[in-house]
Amino acid sequence: MRSGTHYSAGHSMYSLAKKLLFTLSGEAAHQLALESLDAAAHLRLIKPFVEPMLQAPVQVMGLTFPNAVGLAAGLDKNADHLNSLGQLGFGFIEVGTVTPRPQPGNPKPRLFRIPEQEAIINRMGFNNKGLNHLLAQVQKRRYSGLLGINLGKNLTTPVDRAVDDYLLGLEGVYPQADYITVNISSPNTPGLRSLQYGEALKDLLKPLKEAQARLADFHQRYVPLVVKVAPDMNDEELHSLAATLRELKLDGVIATNTTLDKSAVAGLKHGDEQGGLSGRPLTEASCLITRKLTEALEGELPIIGVGGIFSAEDAVERIKAGASLIQLYTGFIYRGPGLISECAEAIAAIND
Ligand SMILES: Cc1cc2nc3c(=O)[nH]c(=O)nc-3n(C[C@H](O)[C@H](O)[C@H](O)COP(=O)(O)O)c2cc1C
Repeated sequence: MRSGTHYSAGHSMYSLAKKLLFTLSGEAAHQLALESLDAAAHLRLIKPFVEPMLQAPVQVMGLTFPNAVGLAAGLDKNADHLNSLGQLGFGFIEVGTVTPRPQPGNPKPRLFRIPEQEAIINRMGFNNKGLNHLLAQVQKRRYSGLLGINLGKNLTTPVDRAVDDYLLGLEGVYPQADYITVNISSPNTPGLRSLQYGEALKDLLKPLKEAQARLADFHQRYVPLVVKVAPDMNDEELHSLAATLRELKLDGVIATNTTLDKSAVAGLKHGDEQGGLSGRPLTEASCLITRKLTEALEGELPIIGVGGIFSAEDAVERIKAGASLIQLYTGFIYRGPGLISECAEAIAAIND
C-alpha cells in the first residue's frame, strides 16, 4: 500500500514546485527542475519524499526489469542527471538521443507547454553534447539500474548516410548499455522518419544487426537493439515495418515518439507551433499503434509502450494493448514522480 504521509508530502512538494516552474518558459523550467533534482539528490533529500522503488520484476529481452515503468528518452539527453533521476523509482532509464558529434539543436524557443491539454510541443532537434560526453557521464554513474541509450544521427549527416552515425553510436555505447534504441522517429530531424519504411529501413537495420552480433562476440555480452517508431503511420506502413523488424530479428520496439497531428491543440496558445506533440492528446493514438503492432508482431518482439500515459488506468490499458514495459515523459512532467509508483503498482497488480 502507498504510505500516505510520504506520498502526500512528496505530492504537495511537487504541486508547489510545479506552480513555480510552470511560470517559467518551457525549456528553462525543464532545466531548472533537473538542476533542483540534482541539488536535492546531493542533499539526500529525494529518498524521504518518494516511494521506495516498487519491486515487481518483469523479464523482457533477456533482462530483468525491477518494475515495468521507465523514463523515456529526451529528458536526460546527455546522461547528466542519471544519478538523481535514478532515485525516483523508475524500473529503467533511457538517456539520449545522443548523436556522434555535439550539436546545438534548433534555435530557442523550441519547447512549448499546452496545459489546457496537458501537452507539450517540442522541436528540440537532438540538441546534445555528443557521444563522448554521454559516455563519460555514463561511465562514472552511481545509478546502478537498467540503462537504455538512445541513438540518433547528426543534422549534417545526410539521411542516406545515417547508418554511419548509428554504427558509431552503437559501437560507442555497446559496452555501457543494457539496451540500445535506434531512434528513427523524431519529427525534428529532416528526413529521419523516412528511415522507418521499405528498403531504407532494411538498409539501416541490417548493418546494425551485423554490428550487434560482432560486438556481442567481442564483448561476450548480448545487448538488445530496439527501434523507436512514430505514431503517424497508416496500416500498410505499420505492417511493412513489423515485417522488417521480424525478418531482421530486432529485439524490441518502442511505440511511440511524438505526433505531428496537432488537431487536439488547434486554436490553443502554442497549438500551431512546429514540432512533435506529446502528452494527453497522444494517449489514444499511441495505444492504438501498440495494439496494432502487438497483432502484427505476433509476439515475436516485445513492445515498450510510451505516449500520453498519465495514470494507472493509462498504464494498465497500455499493457493490455500488448506492451511489456511502459515509459513516461510528459505525464511525469505534469503529474510528478508519484506517477511512477502509481503506474508500477497498477501494472504489478495485473501481472500478479
Ligand atoms: C521535450 C521532449 C524531448 C524529447 N526528446 C526525445 C529524444 O531526444 N529522443 C526520443 O527518442 N524521444 C524524445 N522525446 C519523445 C519522448 O521520449 C516520448 O516518446 C514522447 O514524448 C511520447 O511520450 P509522452 O506523451 O509520455 O511524452 C521527447 C519528448 C519531449 C516532450
